[in-house]
Amino acid sequence: MARSALLNVMVQAALKAGKSLSRDFGEVQNLQVSVKGPGDFVSQADLKAEKIVREELMKARPTYDFLGEEGGEEKGTDGAHRWIVDPLDGTTNFLHGIPQFAVSIALERNGEIVAGVIFNPATDELFTAERGGGAFLNDRRIRVAARKTLPDCVIACGVPHLGRGNHGKFLVELRHVMGEVSGIRRMGAAALDLAYVAAGRVDGFWEANLSPWDIAAGIVLIREAGGFVSDMKGGQEMFATNSVVAGNEYIHKALVEVVNRPVPSK
Ligand code: IPD
Ligand code: CA
Ligand code: CA
Repeated sequence: MARSALLNVMVQAALKAGKSLSRDFGEVQNLQVSVKGPGDFVSQADLKAEKIVREELMKARPTYDFLGEEGGEEKGTDGAHRWIVDPLDGTTNFLHGIPQFAVSIALERNGEIVAGVIFNPATDELFTAERGGGAFLNDRRIRVAARKTLPDCVIACGVPHLGRGNHGKFLVELRHVMGEVSGIRRMGAAALDLAYVAAGRVDGFWEANLSPWDIAAGIVLIREAGGFVSDMKGGQEMFATNSVVAGNEYIHKALVEVVNRPVPSK
């Protein structure tokens, strides 16, 4: 598998930040039993990881824009390129010692995502994709699952929580989806949910209230794995609407229809 120079830079940045997160994850597991808890420590781990990613990427391409969840957007002089980074996706999992979290790095060129890397250091799984070059899990080529009908499918989702999202609207979506599928999963890291769709581990995914750094790398992974990704209405405004639906051709279409079904009348 040949990687471009740019993808290599992204991979190196993700691995380096992942190493730092891995070390801190060990400490988080110890801190579960402390009275203060691991909250502040995790915030520091998150910031440290973003600093590592930023330094690595900006060293290689100093003129690109950089959008990171923690530091916000910094404009470069390039005008065409932007890094989009979530240094720690799955913070709640990380905080609770659950090994489902990742570093997510995407490269956008003239508004299109052209490369993506999602790395879970706890499982040593590195998902990569470049436009036109296919999607990979470590060195293995990946593809979306082939199931064609919802009753055969396991679908991942994101559940809004205290202070976040529209709970009522989600419950309507869930009610409709759960009546059609063989299983629902809420794993807690949107970047990995998308990577799992790309790898055929789950057949589809939907979530509202996501930010560009949660979904940017996953978008190119899914497309390069032969899948479809859209916003909740089936359009391509994922960043503007903060929403995403993903799956293969059939499941994506079916999910868009099901999550948009009107509220049932009593
Ligand atoms: C969160 C995770 C989670 C999703 C949330 C995101 P964070 O990102 O991706 O799965 O449900 O909406 O904000 O805060 O852990 O980087
Ligand atoms: Ca995130
Ligand atoms: Ca994050």
